Amino acid sequence: MTTLLLQLSDLHLFAEPEAVLRGVPTRDSLAEVLEAVRGTGLDFGRVVVTGDFTHDERRETYQAAHGLLDEWIDRCHVLPGNHDDRVLLREVFGDRAGGTDQGICFSESVGGWRLIGVDTHIPGEVPGRVEPAMLDWLAGELDQHSSQPTILFQHHPPISVGSAWLDAIGLRDPGPFRELVIRSPQVRVVSCGHVHQESVGMLGQAAVLTVPSTGVQFTPLQDAPRVDTIPTGFRVFAFDEPAQGEDAGSVSWSSRVIRLPAVTFPALDE
Ligand SMILES: [Fe+2]
Repeated sequence: MTTLLLQLSDLHLFAEPEAVLRGVPTRDSLAEVLEAVRGTGLDFGRVVVTGDFTHDERRETYQAAHGLLDEWIDRCHVLPGNHDDRVLLREVFGDRAGGTDQGICFSESVGGWRLIGVDTHIPGEVPGRVEPAMLDWLAGELDQHSSQPTILFQHHPPISVGSAWLDAIGLRDPGPFRELVIRSPQVRVVSCGHVHQESVGMLGQAAVLTVPSTGVQFTPLQDAPRVDTIPTGFRVFAFDEPAQGEDAGSVSWSSRVIRLPAVTFPALDE
């Protein structure tokens, strides 16, 4: 059996439905992305949204996001980004934004894989951090499920994406997190948002992936922010169920970014 998973990220919605971010009406852009998701005809067993639901951190904006995701909500996990309010996200998304006192997180077994979501949000700040208590929780989950192939999801990438301005607002104090991933060979993927672009890197044995925003895209490999003219999109994972006794490091998986056919809302470089 193969499980399909959809990752969406960086919605940056506003309470005002027509509001734009760098020229892009983010609510309409998300609606287009969701229409493209439907258009794939794929049956996603899980949907993970890796943060930055809103650009204004208002309750009605979270409610709008919840409404747009309604048909997937029973299969959805949500994580906070730097542009989120953890309390509002929890109030509006309820048990879709579960976790511990330390943050919004999840750990569940789907199709023989372990899916883990990690909260990297620091209230009021742009960079992220896996706080010691969250790291302890993650270490416990990885220890308890060490034979299961594992995908981690979080907002902030734990390694450089090759853009100085983005690396400066990435994961603060990443050492302990990186060491934990490297010494946990069952971790096959760490998939993140935050950077509004597709990228691929490695952390030990794990692939580190990032995804486009459902709104504004940033051009890769830049020293300063530069808006990309590439269409928006989403990421799809397919992971095979492990055979009896199969090593977690050899179970096959694949992932690709699917972009819309064309740019509908040309973004402005401000
Ligand atoms: Fe973002």
